[in-house]
Amino acid sequence: MSLSLRFILPLILALAAIAYGVVPLVDQLTLRWFVRDLDIRSELVSNSMQEPLQEHLKVGQKKKTELYFARLIQDERLFGVGFCPEGGGALIATKAFPADIRCDGLDRFVDPAARLLRSEQGPLHVALRTIEQEGQVLGKLVLVHDMRFIQLRSEETRQYVFYFFIALGLVVSLITVVIAQLSWRGWIHGMRALLRGEGLLREPGTAAAAPEFAPIARDLRVLIREMEAEYRPRDEGQLTWTPEALRAILHGELRGEDVLVVSNREPYIHVRRGVDIEVQRPASGLVTALEPIMRACSGTWIAHGSGSADREVVDGNDRVAVPPEKPAYHIRRVWLTQEEEAGYYLGFANEGLWPLCHIAHVRPTFRGSDWQQYVAVNRKFAQAVVAEAKKPNPIVLVQDYHLALLPRMIREQLPEAIIITFWHIPWPNPEVFSICPWRKDILEGMLGSSILGFHTQFHCNNFVDTVDRVLEARVNREDFTVSYGGKLTAVKRYPISIDWPPGAELTAQSVELCRSAVRSRHAMGPEHLIGVGLDRLDYTKGVLERFHAIERLFELEPSWIGRFSFVQLAAPTRASIGEYQQYEAQVRALAARINERFGRDGYQPIILRIENLPPQELYAYYRAADLCFVSSLHDGMNLVAKEFVASRDDDRGVLILSQFAGAASEMPEALIVNPYDSDECAAALHLALSMPAAEQRDRMRLMRGLVAEFNVYRWAGRMLLDAAGMRRRGKVQERKTT
Ligand code: G6P
Repeated sequence: MSLSLRFILPLILALAAIAYGVVPLVDQLTLRWFVRDLDIRSELVSNSMQEPLQEHLKVGQKKKTELYFARLIQDERLFGVGFCPEGGGALIATKAFPADIRCDGLDRFVDPAARLLRSEQGPLHVALRTIEQEGQVLGKLVLVHDMRFIQLRSEETRQYVFYFFIALGLVVSLITVVIAQLSWRGWIHGMRALLRGEGLLREPGTAAAAPEFAPIARDLRVLIREMEAEYRPRDEGQLTWTPEALRAILHGELRGEDVLVVSNREPYIHVRRGVDIEVQRPASGLVTALEPIMRACSGTWIAHGSGSADREVVDGNDRVAVPPEKPAYHIRRVWLTQEEEAGYYLGFANEGLWPLCHIAHVRPTFRGSDWQQYVAVNRKFAQAVVAEAKKPNPIVLVQDYHLALLPRMIREQLPEAIIITFWHIPWPNPEVFSICPWRKDILEGMLGSSILGFHTQFHCNNFVDTVDRVLEARVNREDFTVSYGGKLTAVKRYPISIDWPPGAELTAQSVELCRSAVRSRHAMGPEHLIGVGLDRLDYTKGVLERFHAIERLFELEPSWIGRFSFVQLAAPTRASIGEYQQYEAQVRALAARINERFGRDGYQPIILRIENLPPQELYAYYRAADLCFVSSLHDGMNLVAKEFVASRDDDRGVLILSQFAGAASEMPEALIVNPYDSDECAAALHLALSMPAAEQRDRMRLMRGLVAEFNVYRWAGRMLLDAAGMRRRGKVQERKTT
């Protein structure tokens, strides 16, 4: 209805405007016709007056002539009659004859344009006729017609024309709306029917498509879907990436298919604390990134159930709804034995692949027994994926180096699945990767994916080089695809990110309150400056290098002693691996030594908290800090850098960032440092502590703009769009070959 009104009103208005333009034209035309009629009438009247007038003039009876004229003007149109005798005699005329028509000024009425006279009595028409007798001119007859009737008629005509256009507008618009409605409904029905293989292509009286039209119907269906996909906003610069945008892609491009995420680490861990069950959030960049995606998309997250109370909270299918406060998706837990966990997780994944891929000077350890567990556990995860898939072609997002064999295992059982694998850690060069005794199996496993994602182009290049070196595969460096065993895998860069804007609960407390809380907790004075570091206690994070840089700062710029403290929050991780135990001991010892060297009564240069803290508390430290120091020796991306930036809605604080973290290529406004160079890092610390507020603001705003635009919804959305595109192209290829 409103649509019809929106259409009809402008149409009527347009027609009314036309009517207003047309009316004066009609007016002029009718006036011309009436004047011509009056000219003819005057001719007739004067002709019929010739003889009687000659008679009256002959006998010279002026009175009789006046009476004759008076009789004539009983005609309602004839307003006055006058006669001007030749040679300048007095005017003989009817009573109301207009005073401004005088015998000595008759010549002006010879011009047709001057015959219309506006007098006090209203508009008049003046016609002149010469009266002759036997070739002798007697004088001039003046016939004056009343034109008021023309005015009245012209007004009536104007009204009729106006109403006519309004009526015409109504009729035209109603007809148009009815036709448009009918044809739109018809088109929609037609299209729906066509998509179902019915409609135009249906044989009369049957529900099935006419077989001879089936190929056309199929082509049309594909064409329509492709058109839909093309018309959807693809220009990412134009698209704001939000949970809604992601959902729209899932429901549009991928037609509401279920998303299955598979990772080793679960997003919520249930832990027994006496009689209570506590829910913990693990310190994991992978979880930080994927959790908001799952909240937006629903679906199922398949992961290792590693918490002491995990089994107590699942249902009969090993599932639990999360987040606990507002469930949006399910975790499907996979149970591992101690041997499996030791071989697959601690052994092959974290003592083998982790140090192999991170160039952090810790030698990888590869054991045959660990490999066997790795294969077995990957198979266990594959079974869980197949069990959870509701359709033969689910979207499966496989995460990280724990599950390198999973893509191929899934592909063997669900050949039509869209498998997107994301490698969250760096990929080394072919020489380094070739150290792994099972390099071929790992690459073959990964190439079961439709899409394989890395954080940086450098890691994509390394992967493709490795495949080229290790496998007999066709590598296309133009479009970065690998064809292996008849299966195509696209290798692409998808820089991971975080939720934007950060949850309101994380930034609810003002920066000032956060700062005073941190200062009072650690017995700092009101002017004391604060640096923060926030990591898993992992040797790749460069915590020792960070502490060395702080020590160097105090050596080079002793004025900061007593005025600046660095708070290192370190989440315990992989604690049963010897390398991690030694690392923790080294970190503790170095912090103690520096505190011993530069600390004074009540002043601690380095505050080390090795414990798991809830996100709210971590954000309070980010917001309290004057600087945040990320000194990874090698890192896929590093989301701590992005979280710090996201937390600073006051546009203050300085980020010092390692050149070896993927984030460095995205955030050049940070102070980029080489963590192995303690002098350079000390200079960056000094610069950060003395940076004017305006410069802090300029840098922070640029970084915040980047994180806002390149948020985690964009990361996931781009992968899903690419996967949908691949599926479409695959279908077209299939049709070509059938
Ligand atoms: C890195 C890995 C993740 C892992 C996280 C925490 O970010 O890429 O896969 O979850 O470290 O390690 P953890 O061993 O505790 O899961």
